[in-house]
Amino acid sequence: MTPQRHEDTKIGRGKSQPLCLYILSLCLCGFVVSIVLRAGGLKTSASTSASAAPLEGCLKCHDKIEPMHQFSPTATLDKLDNGKDALGLTCTACHGGNPAATTKEDAHVRPRFPREWMRDGKFRIPERSGPLLARESLEFVRFLNPGDLRVAAQTCGTSECHTSETGAVARSMMAHGAMLWGAALYNNGGFPLKDTAFGESYGATGAPQSLV
Ligand code: HEC
Ligand code: HEC
Repeated sequence: MTPQRHEDTKIGRGKSQPLCLYILSLCLCGFVVSIVLRAGGLKTSASTSASAAPLEGCLKCHDKIEPMHQFSPTATLDKLDNGKDALGLTCTACHGGNPAATTKEDAHVRPRFPREWMRDGKFRIPERSGPLLARESLEFVRFLNPGDLRVAAQTCGTSECHTSETGAVARSMMAHGAMLWGAALYNNGGFPLKDTAFGESYGATGAPQSLV
């Protein structure tokens, strides 16, 4: 058996007519396909911009809420832009919760102690909610207030947006209140140093911690 060579597979002169037809039909096909694609392309580009980022279910009920960030280097927003604020943040980027759900029960993060968050059959944050919140899951704390210092490192402090502020505010006098104790003790002669050394600070689990 002679090994097949490239020349053997060449289409002979006698077959050149079907080849021409073949090429012609290929061109025609290509033309038709390109038209179809171009028409479809317009449609898909329009629908991908919507389907790439499906609106979060939260907006079904909260769509009138003002954007958290109204300004970005390139935009100023009076209202939400496709469910996002001026920095492109969605509700769940900060609050957590289920962006795909459309009922309140499924969308909201559920509390561990649902009855204690209810009054007159409605969800109500009780007065002095601190001790109750301290027993709740961190997911729920984040859902109610993404700026809570227990979770701020995962929200405001991520992506180098407010990393240093988040670290600093947790150690600031707004968080530990040491100026109060320091001023009272120093001014009344209870402690001789003006530098404040007495205050309160708690970690994410609620355990006391020292700040050095
Ligand atoms: C079906 C409607 C509905 C959907 C969907 C929904 N919510 Fe709500 N949300 C409410 C209502 C009503 C309240 C008022 C308090 C209540 O009744 O629980 C509320 C309250 C809240 C609160 C405030 C809690 C407080 O009182 O401080 C936050 C935060 C919140 N929603 C965030 C979200 C986020 C984030 C999503 C999407 C993941 C979402 N919601 C989806 C209806 C909805
Ligand atoms: C950049 C982070 C961030 C984004 C994005 C964000 N929130 Fe908030 N949201 C917060 C913080 C922080 C609070 C203040 C909580 C407090 O003061 O107790 C808050 C408060 C709320 C409250 C409490 C009631 C109020 O109006 O003060 C609701 C409801 C709420 N957000 C829903 C939403 C929804 C819905 C979206 C999406 C459209 C959204 N948030 C986007 C961070 C954010």
